[in-house]
Amino acid sequence: MKKSGLFSTNAFSGKCVVITGGAGDIALAIALEFAKAGISKIALLDKDDVMLDKAVTILKKEGAHVVRVQVDLSSKEELQMAVEKLYSSEGETWDILVTTAGLFIGTPLIDSHLEDLDRLMQINALSVLEVSKLIAKGMIKRKYGKIIHIGSSSTYYGTPGNGIYAASKVVVNQLTQTMAVEWGPHNIQVNTVCPTVAETKFLKFVEGDASHAKLRERLKEKMPLKRLLKAEDIAPIVLFLASDGAQLINGAIIPVDGGSRLVST
Ligand SMILES: NC(=O)c1ccc[n+]([C@@H]2O[C@H](COP(=O)([O-])OP(=O)(O)OC[C@H]3O[C@@H](n4cnc5c(N)ncnc54)[C@H](O)[C@@H]3O)[C@@H](O)[C@H]2O)c1
Repeated sequence: MKKSGLFSTNAFSGKCVVITGGAGDIALAIALEFAKAGISKIALLDKDDVMLDKAVTILKKEGAHVVRVQVDLSSKEELQMAVEKLYSSEGETWDILVTTAGLFIGTPLIDSHLEDLDRLMQINALSVLEVSKLIAKGMIKRKYGKIIHIGSSSTYYGTPGNGIYAASKVVVNQLTQTMAVEWGPHNIQVNTVCPTVAETKFLKFVEGDASHAKLRERLKEKMPLKRLLKAEDIAPIVLFLASDGAQLINGAIIPVDGGSRLVST
């Protein structure tokens, strides 16, 4: 049965969204909010077969029409084939693209390996460009599109251990600005939201792990709101950017961090 969300139940009726990393925590929260807002079709692209099945089951309970696409986004060929298949089975009617597929590798720069930077760049930066190009081609033909990338607030700081991850995410910020300028004339808006650390499996906040519990408390203390971010806090911001009410927001890099970037300690 459909539950009500923050937007009206037909706010996105007639629209179709592609979500990369669609089986992840933030992606699922976004997909659920779209489902509650009456979106007509959701395509989830992810490499994790088991988690994809789980996400599809949850979304179907909300009455959503879901298409699951298992694909490793680090392979340009696999991605191209997956999108071609998506177009031939479902049409090129994709109005919204949300890129959430991401990888985190934490290491001090002195211990970092080029192989790790390479993996981060493949998923966090290059796959964002490749999937955006493929979906934007359809959007350009239809003269309509909203693209929202999930970046990271790590791009605002020099946090120890986050260097190579933040470097891969900085690329997304720059791509956002150029996509916004190059694709704006085709009525496509491109923005990035930059969440701070959220309570998801992404950072493996393992129950009972002392170091993670400490980190969790430290992060909470730094938040002016004295609480950690949840995936559900990010979803409504993405939906707003995907709505026509946000048409004049283009090329923006939007922090979703409760103001924690303004706190010096
Ligand atoms: N959770 C946080 O604290 C946080 C904070 C800031 C930014 N982010 C960003 O938000 C996004 C989503 O994070 P999340 O917390 O939901 O993480 P998550 O691990 O739950 O989701 C990431 C998803 O990406 C998929 N993925 C990874 N590599 C892939 C590949 N090669 N091909 C296809 N799919 C692949 C994974 O299977 C997973 O389902 C990421 O881009 C992350 O960098 C997360």
